Amino acid sequence: MLRDQCSGKTVLITGGAGFIGSHLADRLLNDGAKQVVIVDNLFLGSEKNIESAVGKGAVFYNEDIEYAASLDYIFERHSIDIVFNLATKALNYSFINPGNAFTTNVAGVINLLELQRKGKFKTLCHFSTSEVYGTAVYEPMDEAHPKAPTTTYAAGKAAADLAVESYVNMFNIDAFIVRPFNNYGPRQNYKGLLAGIIPITAWRIHNGVSPELHGEGEQSRDFIFVHDTVDAVIKLFRVLPAGESVNISTDNCCTIKDLLDRVIIYYGYKGPILKKKARGADVLTHNASNQKVKSLIEYDLTSFDDGLAKTLDWYRSEFNVGK
Ligand SMILES: NC(=O)c1ccc[n+]([C@@H]2O[C@H](COP(=O)([O-])OP(=O)(O)OC[C@H]3O[C@@H](n4cnc5c(N)ncnc54)[C@H](O)[C@@H]3O)[C@@H](O)[C@H]2O)c1
Repeated sequence: MLRDQCSGKTVLITGGAGFIGSHLADRLLNDGAKQVVIVDNLFLGSEKNIESAVGKGAVFYNEDIEYAASLDYIFERHSIDIVFNLATKALNYSFINPGNAFTTNVAGVINLLELQRKGKFKTLCHFSTSEVYGTAVYEPMDEAHPKAPTTTYAAGKAAADLAVESYVNMFNIDAFIVRPFNNYGPRQNYKGLLAGIIPITAWRIHNGVSPELHGEGEQSRDFIFVHDTVDAVIKLFRVLPAGESVNISTDNCCTIKDLLDRVIIYYGYKGPILKKKARGADVLTHNASNQKVKSLIEYDLTSFDDGLAKTLDWYRSEFNVGK
């Protein structure tokens, strides 16, 4: 199986003003995509994230993909070849609005799959998440690991995966699933309850607020630098057969406590750490198997030290602007 490159193609990125989506937009533009179209309702994404992409010709629609009419409107204006589906509402939103955390993940992909079934575009690359596996019943977790979501966010993601697989099975469409583990890097949201551990800790330290640790911090995660994820997705696009899914992660596992310590040491923070109650429904371990991705593509990974330094430098410059 060898698909054409994305260069020369018109590509739609849902959730393209978000963390990973904005880096994907930059990469596709650098690789010579004919046109990059971004749809994002700015639930968590921002126009700042896509300033450079829009400057290079990307078109942005502030629309909600849960509404089929929003996508119809975009498809009337652009002859889309490829869709990367990243739109989602962050995991922690499950604790605020469980129903909509689920619905966003399901309604968006169904709207896209219906368009694809009707021949409106050729290839769908759908973004799943390691969260669909739940806590590991064996490690490292490969693609055959049972799916046992522990949040409505992950349940919606698992349902979306099944939707993609069943549409491929029923209608022979060209759709596949990439399944990133925890990403980190520049542009990850640092605001409010939906912020990830690295950005929120960086923000707190730069704003005179003590960093927080939930529970003992023994939960472990497999952290991958966002540029590595994007690079892997671009390469997998060419070779991953329709209907298949693939993990994208590193072979490094790091506990949240270790991660917090690394951030604190990097910034030279000497103050206290606030101990908070463990978050309910937190998955304990996420240690991925990368055997499949390594068998499919040349898999280049940034070291955790390098990636973390680039990320923490980026946040430092973000937070120091205007000070
Ligand atoms: N960041 C990670 O560590 C990670 C790990 C595994 C999987 N993923 C997956 O990768 C994808 C991108 O994640 P991210 O970290 O960039 O998240 P993000 O929150 O930064 O980006 C998602 C974007 O979707 C937008 N959005 C939400 N609902 C929408 C809707 N109804 N219509 C249009 N846009 C909508 C948000 O505004 C946001 O910009 C997601 O599908 C996520 O599940 C991310």
